[in-house]
Amino acid sequence: SQSLIKKLEDTIENFSDFPIPGIQFKDISPIFLEPKLYEEVIEDLVRFSKGKIDAVCGIESRGYLFGIAIAVALEVPFILIRKKGKLPPPVISEKYDLEYGTAEIETREGQIKPGQRILIHDDLLATGGTTEAAAKLVQKQGAKVSQFSFLIALKELKGEQKLQRFDAELYHILEY
Ligand code: PRP
Ligand code: MG
Repeated sequence: SQSLIKKLEDTIENFSDFPIPGIQFKDISPIFLEPKLYEEVIEDLVRFSKGKIDAVCGIESRGYLFGIAIAVALEVPFILIRKKGKLPPPVISEKYDLEYGTAEIETREGQIKPGQRILIHDDLLATGGTTEAAAKLVQKQGAKVSQFSFLIALKELKGEQKLQRFDAELYHILEY
C-alpha cells in the first residue's frame, strides 16, 4: 500500500558511492529496528504468495531476512540458496556474472522437490544475475519458478528482463 511504501522510503537509508564509486547503496537495516514495520512488510509479501507456492527459496544473505518469515507464515518449506562452499555435498550449483568476475550459488540436492511451485525471494533486484542463477537452480531440480518477490527493484538495471523467460509472477514493494 501507499502508506507502507512511504514508511519504507522514510526508513531505508541511501548511501552514494558505497561500497564502490557509482553505486547507490540502499541500507535496509533500519527496518529491523522497527518490528511493526517489519511485520507489515511480511504481511504484504505473504499476501502476494498466499495459496500460490509450495516452498520458498531465499538467497544468501539478505534474502533470508524476509524469506524465512514468508515461508513460516505460509507454512511451507524454506530452502537456503547459499554462496559457494557453505553447504555439504551433494549440492547443485550455478555460476553467474558480477560486475567484476563471477560468483556461484548452491543448494542442497533434494531439498527442492520436482513439481513444486517455488517462490524465489531476495531483498533486491538489481541486474537480476543473482536471481536468474537461483531460478536456474530451481529448474535443474525439476521444480517450477512460479513467483519472484523482492523488497526493492532498481528499474534502471533492467533485472526484470532477465527473468521474463521463467514466465513467473513478479512483485516488489518499492522501486527506484
Ligand atoms: C545483493 C542483493 C541481491 C543481489 C542483487 O546481494 O542482496 O542478492 O546483490 O544483485 P543483482 O540483481 O545485480 O544480481 P550481495 O551479493 O551483495 O550479498 P548479500 O545479500 O549477502 O549482502
Ligand atoms: Mg543478496
